[in-house]
Amino acid sequence: MAYEQNGRLPDHQNWPRPELLYSEALRELHATIESDWDSVKRSACQTAAGRALWKHVVNDQLAELFAGETYLTNLYEKIKNDRMSNAREVSGVILAVRTLWFESKLEAAVESFGGGAQVVLLGAGMDTRAYRLSCLKESDVYEIDFPEVLEMKETLLQTAINNSINPQSKSLTRIAADMREEDWFKKLQSSGFIPEKNTVWILEGIIYYLPHSQAMGVLKTIADNCSLTKTVLLADFMNKQSTTLSSSNSFHFYSDWPDHLLPTLGFSEVNLSQIGDPDADYGLLHDPLNLFNKLRGVPRSFQNHPDDGTPCCRLYLVQASGSPKTISS
Ligand SMILES: C[S@@+](CC[C@H](N)C(=O)[O-])C[C@H]1O[C@@H](n2cnc3c(N)ncnc32)[C@H](O)[C@@H]1O
Repeated sequence: MAYEQNGRLPDHQNWPRPELLYSEALRELHATIESDWDSVKRSACQTAAGRALWKHVVNDQLAELFAGETYLTNLYEKIKNDRMSNAREVSGVILAVRTLWFESKLEAAVESFGGGAQVVLLGAGMDTRAYRLSCLKESDVYEIDFPEVLEMKETLLQTAINNSINPQSKSLTRIAADMREEDWFKKLQSSGFIPEKNTVWILEGIIYYLPHSQAMGVLKTIADNCSLTKTVLLADFMNKQSTTLSSSNSFHFYSDWPDHLLPTLGFSEVNLSQIGDPDADYGLLHDPLNLFNKLRGVPRSFQNHPDDGTPCCRLYLVQASGSPKTISS
């Protein structure tokens, strides 16, 4: 494979193609997704397409199945064009960096807990970490999403591989819930979640879909857990300008300063990264003049770029943690 000098970006002819080994039954299921689901639920398949098309850096064997042919083909064409035109940012790179960032932080958090932890994925969508991360072998994993999304996930697995794949995690529990409703935490507890057990919370690509008060309620519930046990939150936050990027007005919650917000809720330690920072680069941002570096050079308080007035659309990758001891001291 012809990689560039940084070794991680194949050229347009060598970009790994989607395999598209689809049966008629799978095509029908994906046609249902396209016709019946709203854009928020469909975003689960879009992110899976990102992982599938960046498979030379993200090892997610199930991503193609969950993405579906349309999203795979669309993204593949965009990537090919980006590579042919030497674009500064290749389509899907944010998803690839985000996935790798969450994975490395998840692994470190679980390890810091000595292996046995609870891992809760809110807005899990087509996430497959329970199947593919060996660091989760002593962990109980909980996936929360809308019932339609979780049912479809099961059906796709059943149809494609007869459910013949086992999670690597100690357990995997799927919980149908709407995060805008207050009962999601009760549903999580009645599915076996123990608030007193060390927990990693993953909010990847979800919090900005929630209205402000519900998003704050979810963050507060997680922060309250810090007073009971060691808690790590991994989440991505949009700043205000980023919420204008959705053509379907799906984005609501934003925070320009999540590193200031989270301590007020009860987290004792907060680390924030932007795409392109040393811990959120992974050798994938090949052009030093890429958009992300351009943004990182501008103070975070700026809503528009001083050079050309374009909106500063940022995605913050945030790790926050707390424990009973740090809260009371
Ligand atoms: C962009 S996808 C991210 C999926 C997954 N975390 C990933 O990174 O691949 C957003 C997910 O959040 C889910 N979601 C959005 N709003 C939700 C809500 N109110 N309750 C439950 N799930 C929700 C969607 O159904 C979708 O699966």
